[in-house]
Amino acid sequence: MKITPTISTLIFFLFVVFSWSCAASADDRVDGFLECLKDQVDNYTSISSLVYTPINSSFQSVLDFSIRNRRFMSASTPKPLVIITPECEDQIAPIIYCAKQNQLQIRTRSGGHDFEGRSYVSEVPFVIIDLLNFSEVTVDAEQKTAWLGAGATIGMLYYNIAIKSSRLAFPAGFSPTVGVGGHFSGGGYGILLRKYGMAADHVIDARIVDVNGNILDRKSMGEDLFWAIRGGGGSSFGVILAWKVGLVEVPETVTVFTIFRDLEQNATQLIHRWQYVAPTIDQDLFLRVIARRNTSADGKMTIRLSFNSVFLGGVDRLLALMQKEFPELGLVRDDCTEMSWIQAILYNTGLPIDSLEPLLDRYQPDVGYYKGKSDYVQEPMPISGFEGVWELFYEPDGKEAEFLLTPYGGKMAEIPESAIAFPHRAGNLYMVHHMIYWEAEQAQDEDKYIAWVRKLYNYVTPYVTKNPRGAFLCYRDLDIGVNNNEGVVTIETARVWGEKYFVNNFNRLVLVKTRVDPGNFFREEQSIPPLILRWTGKEDI
Ligand SMILES: Cc1cc2nc3c(=O)[nH]c(=O)nc-3n(C[C@H](O)[C@H](O)[C@H](O)COP(=O)(O)OP(=O)(O)OC[C@H]3O[C@@H](n4cnc5c(N)ncnc54)[C@H](O)[C@@H]3O)c2cc1C
Ligand SMILES: *[C@@H]1O[C@H](CO)[C@@H](O)[C@H](O)[C@H]1NC(C)=O
Ligand SMILES: *[C@@H]1O[C@H](CO)[C@@H](O)[C@H](O)[C@H]1NC(C)=O
Ligand SMILES: *[C@@H]1O[C@H](CO)[C@@H](O)[C@H](O)[C@H]1NC(C)=O
Ligand SMILES: *[C@@H]1O[C@H](CO)[C@@H](O)[C@H](O)[C@H]1NC(C)=O
Ligand SMILES: *[C@@H]1O[C@H](CO)[C@@H](O)[C@H](O)[C@H]1NC(C)=O
Repeated sequence: MKITPTISTLIFFLFVVFSWSCAASADDRVDGFLECLKDQVDNYTSISSLVYTPINSSFQSVLDFSIRNRRFMSASTPKPLVIITPECEDQIAPIIYCAKQNQLQIRTRSGGHDFEGRSYVSEVPFVIIDLLNFSEVTVDAEQKTAWLGAGATIGMLYYNIAIKSSRLAFPAGFSPTVGVGGHFSGGGYGILLRKYGMAADHVIDARIVDVNGNILDRKSMGEDLFWAIRGGGGSSFGVILAWKVGLVEVPETVTVFTIFRDLEQNATQLIHRWQYVAPTIDQDLFLRVIARRNTSADGKMTIRLSFNSVFLGGVDRLLALMQKEFPELGLVRDDCTEMSWIQAILYNTGLPIDSLEPLLDRYQPDVGYYKGKSDYVQEPMPISGFEGVWELFYEPDGKEAEFLLTPYGGKMAEIPESAIAFPHRAGNLYMVHHMIYWEAEQAQDEDKYIAWVRKLYNYVTPYVTKNPRGAFLCYRDLDIGVNNNEGVVTIETARVWGEKYFVNNFNRLVLVKTRVDPGNFFREEQSIPPLILRWTGKEDI
């Protein structure tokens, strides 16, 4: 019998083929991806031991190893289909190619500290490239430079600097386990912020794999892409392999102190006064203030401010400076300890200051639950503003919360907004970090805690930057806006969150993205979209 397909069966057939190819099951995509890798990699044995799928017993532990926020470690958190832990640069291009071929998204993870877990969570089928083994650090003390793999931690960088020189340092963050892949590409700051600016300000070269699998350095990537990955985030542009940084000089002796002041000790007047002092004082002084609720043994609640400082100099000069500029704080010699810069790093982490080895440990036990948000302040907040914040801290859900003010000024005010993609410079007195933490036992109340920190954020609206309201990419916050996960992302969708992170640098980031990844392969909830270059219809296809 001769079968003549009717139009309707043909349409049905086309429909089936079409929908099948668009929505191949996750299993098919994984099979396709793995088959593709076998074709692309000359010696598959050399990479197969680095490829994890859920059938490998260590899949879960490799996934969990770098998770730093337990909110994204639950059974309901979307999991990757594949995790790959490459060991050499030429293993990355085949992964990108095969992910593209099989419509899988890539998430690149370096240290896994993303506040919203974006390096290891996606709502669409995805593969993780986990760079934890790209962790080599080579310090050249003569040249005052270092090359570091994107998967190195800042602790590894600090360690390798310290064993070579006590006079060299690097202006990156507090926690040693933070990965340089996300940290430098988001900006990155720490105790040397007012003296030297952001970590990204000191990046002098980089290696990146682009969407076509090319390995580029500063020269071959071009100054616009090199500009973009210093503060514009890595996840929009490719897989960053390594950074070269310039090291900075610090004195042999620095001085640290942390002093506490409760409401009963004029804490509100002190934090109010702090706003006028900390951003303008000598840039050798980094003095931040952290507010938390504190309950005494007899159950009485108060707000305890912790004035936490590193001064790039000896105690005598520090005391003279504080006596002149901030006598109200009442700093005395006994509050102060002289030490080396690397000891100040350890001190601020809460590690014993006599051993460097813990800086190398990238594993972090006791990962907790948290939600963070950020703001910038350009005009001092009134006393009443702080009093309102304290009231929120007295609410039951404010028990484990933090309101952390980091002074800007100094070098930060000297670097132009457009120097690198990180934009928050002159005009900002300080950055605010709103944080709330909870424990596993309270996990079912997660929404309440998140609601609390959002309430705090809403409360401070009159006192912080507007149009756009500034935010710090390293403190990623999906509340401020997200892209659609699938389909075309418009510039206007991305502008909602993008101008908060990048202010006037947002448009230039879009242009860079349009040049380097016009098909928007490297994408996530807060990645820069390319301009859509519409076909004008003037030519025949
Ligand atoms: C405990 C803790 C302490 C912190 N302390 C500080 C601090 O003192 N100062 C500060 O500025 N910030 C701090 N942060 C924030 C931190 O800088 C950011 O979370 C930063 O993005 C972490 O980098 P990562 O490589 O560990 O993160 P990841 O989660 O691995 O990555 C973060 C983002 O960058 C992308 N990315 C990572 N690596 C690459 C790469 N190689 N190529 C392309 N894209 C990449 C990821 O896809 C993701 O979008 C802290 C965070 C935590 C959790
Ligand atoms: C392939 O890689 C494996 C593991 O790295 C190695 O033992 C083997 O010798 C390699 N084979 C060839 C043909 O290079
Ligand atoms: C995971 O399992 C596959 C199939 O057995 C194997 O080829 C691969 O080497 C395993 N991966 C790791 C990291 O052990
Ligand atoms: C990769 O890094 C992990 C974590 O530091 C380590 O346990 C493992 O041995 C490393 N693998 C290689 C091949 O270096
Ligand atoms: C609190 O501050 C006020 C105004 O600066 C000052 O007069 C008062 O003595 C201070 N009280 C304490 C306990 O320090
Ligand atoms: C109160 O503050 C002290 C000193 O900072 C601290 O040791 C204690 O844990 C705090 N108590 C609470 C309940 O936060």
